[in-house]
Amino acid sequence: MKKTKTKGKNKALFRCENCGYESRKWLGKCPDCGQWDSLVEKVVVSAPSGRKQTACRPLPLSSTGGSEQKRMISRISELDRVLGGGLVPGSMVLIGGDPGIGKSTLILQLLGALAADGRQVLYVTGEESARQVAMRGRRLGIEGNDILLATETCVESIITMAAELSPALLAVDSIQTMFTEEVASAPGSVTQVRESTALLVNLAKSTDLPILLVGHVTKEGSIAGPRVLEHMVDTVLYFEGDRGQPFRILRTVKNRFGSTNEIGVFEMKESGLAEVKNPSALFLAERPVNVPGSVVMPSIEGTRPILVEVQALVSPSNLGTGRRTAIGADPQRLALLTAVLEKKLGLTLFDHDIFLNIAGGIRIDEPALDLGVVVALLSSFFEKTVDPTTAVCGEVGLAGEIRAVGQIEMRIQEANRLGFTTFLLPMSSYRRLEKIDKHSMRVIGVATIQSLVEILF
Ligand code: TYD
Ligand code: MG
Repeated sequence: MKKTKTKGKNKALFRCENCGYESRKWLGKCPDCGQWDSLVEKVVVSAPSGRKQTACRPLPLSSTGGSEQKRMISRISELDRVLGGGLVPGSMVLIGGDPGIGKSTLILQLLGALAADGRQVLYVTGEESARQVAMRGRRLGIEGNDILLATETCVESIITMAAELSPALLAVDSIQTMFTEEVASAPGSVTQVRESTALLVNLAKSTDLPILLVGHVTKEGSIAGPRVLEHMVDTVLYFEGDRGQPFRILRTVKNRFGSTNEIGVFEMKESGLAEVKNPSALFLAERPVNVPGSVVMPSIEGTRPILVEVQALVSPSNLGTGRRTAIGADPQRLALLTAVLEKKLGLTLFDHDIFLNIAGGIRIDEPALDLGVVVALLSSFFEKTVDPTTAVCGEVGLAGEIRAVGQIEMRIQEANRLGFTTFLLPMSSYRRLEKIDKHSMRVIGVATIQSLVEILF
C-alpha cells in the first residue's frame, strides 16, 4: 500500500476566483470575500525534497551594474518630475484612477512625446477599438508612424509582440481587460489581474523594457483594483481630480526610483491635457475676496510649494447635532480641530454644521493645513473676514499649541511671489527663520490658538 502523504506529491489547492484566497480543501463559500461557489482547484507541483535546486549564484553588489541608468525623458515636465526624472529602463509603472479621469489621454500624450523624439513605442489597448484610439490621437495632434497600436488582451501575445518589436516603451491599457492563459478566471478578477501583472513584471525585468500599466480604481476601492498590484510594481501614480473641474493631479504614492508625494498638475482641455506650470495661481484664480470662511495656505507637495484656498462654512444646524463634512482634507482631522476649538476657546460648535473644502479639487494631507482650517473655521463662525493678503500654515496640537512645520521659507517665498504680505506661522518656526526679511513683510509667529484669535480679529 502506498502512503497517502508521500513527499513531493502533487497537492490540491483551491483558489477563490474572486479574491485569490487559497484553501487546502474545497469550500462552498469563500471565507475571505464571501463569494459563493468561487473556489476552483489548482494543481500545485511541489518540489521534490532532497534534490538540489539550481540556484542563481549571488554576486557582489558592486559588480551588478547599479549605476544610475539613463532615464527616458518625455519633456512633459509635470510627468517626468512625478516619475523622479523620467522613466527608468525595466521599470513597471502603474497609473491608477477613476474611469474617465484621463489616464488613456495621458498615456497617449506620453507615447506621442516619445515618438516625436524618434522612439518606437507600443500601445496595447483592450478597452477601445483601434479607430477610437486613432481618432483621439488625431484630436490630440499626435501623428506619425512610431506609435504602434495593438488591440490585444492576451498577455502571452503581448509578450511575443514585445519580443518581436522591441519597442522603447510598452503601455498596457488597462490591466482589468487583460488575461493570461495560465489562469481560468475572468479578466478583471483578482487572480487574473495579479497573474497578468506578474508576467508583465517579468517581461520588464528580463528585457529592460519600461512598461506603463493602467488600472481602474473601482468604486469599492480595492477589489481587483490597482491596490492589489501596488507591491508588485516599481512606481504607483494616481491620477485624481474632480470630474466637474478641469484640474487633474498626478500623484506618486510609491516610487522605487524617486521621491514620493510629488505631484504633477494638468488641466483637461479640448486638445487634451495641458501642463500647469503655475499651480498656485490656478488654485487661487477664483478666490472670493473679503468673504468670511476663506484663507490661503501655502502647502508643500513633494518638492514644490502650492498655494491653496481653505474654505469653511460654519452655520447653526437645524438638526440636533451638526454634520461635519471635509472635501480635500481628512475628516478626522476636522473633527479633532473642532474639538480643540470647543475645548480651548469655549466655542459651542456641536449644534453647528461644519463644511470644509479645499478649493479646486486638490487634496491636502499635511499637518501644516491645520492652522488654515482653524482660521477658516473661526472666520466663518465669527463672520469676520481674514485680510486677503494673509497666508497661514502650522500644525495644531490637542493642547491648542501651534507646532512647527517644515520648509517654512519656501512656503513664504511662494506666497510672497503671488502677492501675499502677511504670514501667520508657528512661533517656533518664526524663531528659526533666517533667510526671510521679517520686516519687509508682516511675518507673525503664533504660539497658541488663544493668541491667534487676538491677532486675527
Ligand atoms: P480618458 O483618457 O478616456 O479617461 P480614462 O482612460 O481614465 O478612462 O479621458 C476621458 C475624458 O477626458 C472624457 O470625459 C473626455 C475628456 N477629454 C477631454 O476633455 N479632452 C480631450 O482632448 C480628451 C482626449 C478627453
Ligand atoms: Mg481609458
